[in-house]
Amino acid sequence: MYVNTKDILEKASKEYYAVPAFNINNMEFFHAILEGALEKRAPLIVETSEGAIKYAGNGDIFKGARFFVEMVRLFADSVDIPVALHLDHGKHFEYIIAAIKAGYSSVMIDASEEPFEENLRKTKEIVKIAHAAGVSVEAELGQLAGVEDNVVAAENVLVDPEQAKIFVEETGVDFLAPAIGTSHGAFKFKGEAKLDFERLKKVKELTKVPLVLHGASSVLPEYVRIAEEYGADLSGAKGVPEEDLKKCVELGINKVNTDTDLRIAFIAGLRKYLKENPKEFDPRHYLGAGKKFVKEVVMNRLEFLGCAGKA
Ligand code: G3H
Ligand code: 13P
Ligand code: ZN
Repeated sequence: MYVNTKDILEKASKEYYAVPAFNINNMEFFHAILEGALEKRAPLIVETSEGAIKYAGNGDIFKGARFFVEMVRLFADSVDIPVALHLDHGKHFEYIIAAIKAGYSSVMIDASEEPFEENLRKTKEIVKIAHAAGVSVEAELGQLAGVEDNVVAAENVLVDPEQAKIFVEETGVDFLAPAIGTSHGAFKFKGEAKLDFERLKKVKELTKVPLVLHGASSVLPEYVRIAEEYGADLSGAKGVPEEDLKKCVELGINKVNTDTDLRIAFIAGLRKYLKENPKEFDPRHYLGAGKKFVKEVVMNRLEFLGCAGKA
């Protein structure tokens, strides 16, 4: 069934487990993710970036937002696990409104690059609009600057726990993404991964809301290896180790944003298939090979983040 993201995350926050939020741009990734969640009996959050919405609408953002709602609802309404659709990194008012109008379960207002007061003001405004439409809201504090050479990112780009408390109280936001040292993409760390667990713990104690980890892909070596064996160049790729993610979950992370891991798995499956089947040109076959690897990654995440069996 199609649900409000808040229903999924408040349960996760109470019971100290996390639900991965998987980014999609097309049908094949969605099918893979849904199949994985059904097999694992897990609640499911799928999310789309603004870029994904523009892509799916072939340039028309209202059509793109509707496209995802129609597709996700069509499948969600006929399964017995909770399924939510979330707008990831909403930075522009028109995308956020398009998502709310189309029927997304939740939206993110990402004004994290703005000064604190401006982030607070914008978030408060979106919370008012979204809540009136029954849509829950995620916001972000601090910036995803990543970590270089085994040194935690500069203090001033990470979340300030005291500010997080004020921000949550004043905005009424439903979930918060605190920056604790991760970054987006396949190249997160130069040396060892280093997250600020202590900061995360304080944010949870002071806010008590469901927390979101962005830039949470693990960049799994087995898929990087296959992708590279079949022609990709991902040298220097490094993600957040699964053990660190488990620790984040113990400290209060409930939504684990995952895009890069699925992209790498898909490209590994696709490259391998095309190389091994040079005569093949049926998209259902070569895209199916990518889909198979995506489903494996999805099932692994659902398991180790603790949400398998929670639906
Ligand atoms: O956080 C960003 C997501 O990985 C989506 O990125 O803008 O390439 O769709 P995108
Ligand atoms: P990754 O690039 O680590 O998958 O992060 C995705 C993300 O945070 C989407 O919001
Ligand atoms: Zn993100």
